Amino acid sequence: MKKSRAPVICANWKMYKNIEEALAFIDVVIPVAEQSDCEVLIAVPFTAIRSCADRVRGTRISIGAQNMNDATAGAFTGEVSASMLQEAGATFVIVGHSERRRLFGETNSFIHQKIKRALDVGLRPIVCIGENYEERENGATHAVLKMQLQECLGDISKEATSHLMVAYEPNWAVGTGLPANPETVHQAIDDCRAFLGELWSSADAQRVTFLYGGSVDVQNAATFLQTPNIDGLLIGSVSLDPDSFAKIISLRQNVGAR
Ligand code: 13P
Repeated sequence: MKKSRAPVICANWKMYKNIEEALAFIDVVIPVAEQSDCEVLIAVPFTAIRSCADRVRGTRISIGAQNMNDATAGAFTGEVSASMLQEAGATFVIVGHSERRRLFGETNSFIHQKIKRALDVGLRPIVCIGENYEERENGATHAVLKMQLQECLGDISKEATSHLMVAYEPNWAVGTGLPANPETVHQAIDDCRAFLGELWSSADAQRVTFLYGGSVDVQNAATFLQTPNIDGLLIGSVSLDPDSFAKIISLRQNVGAR
């Protein structure tokens, strides 16, 4: 099945890698990314954004952040604004990751504000959504995803759709070694796209890039990339190893241009 959106492979390093380690990783991945038709994104710790962005200049790799604050400036000790990220060289930002929702109490309305602010300064948001184990067991997945999309994206202008990425990351699959079944992911993204079609129009919903994240590894990545509806991958622990990450980027070549 031909997919119209560019394939995306995104690393989320979480709170790992100092600057030296980050640059060594990038040096391994640049030549592989150059051979690829994928957009290669790396979400690095704040402290490594500037150095990594300098290192990837002129390559196919983009550097982003894993979080931001929704305010433009203010007395918010320890927080970082969208424009600060952009100034440091980030071109995208992950918002609403399940770890931020679960460990730091982030709500859909806070995430919604962050998305607006990111778009204001031209940062591409990767909006993470996903149900937890109980919600799936109780048959609430559809309702949960719909509410997350409604509350996070409800009044986002449809002009933003081509800059938006949504990552479907079921909480029970994140960091557990238990990836979702590709058919389950296909169905969830289908539901999400249909809902976004109601919010905007189906043509606008088609422009949104959907990623899957949760226990992606070198063995299962090709199957996800071949699954209709999945435009790319958001990879946590396996993305810390440059050889594994490079392998997943090059897998895309074997899966074939879409
Ligand atoms: P894992 O790939 O380690 O399951 O993490 C996924 C994730 O959180 C990506 O954002």
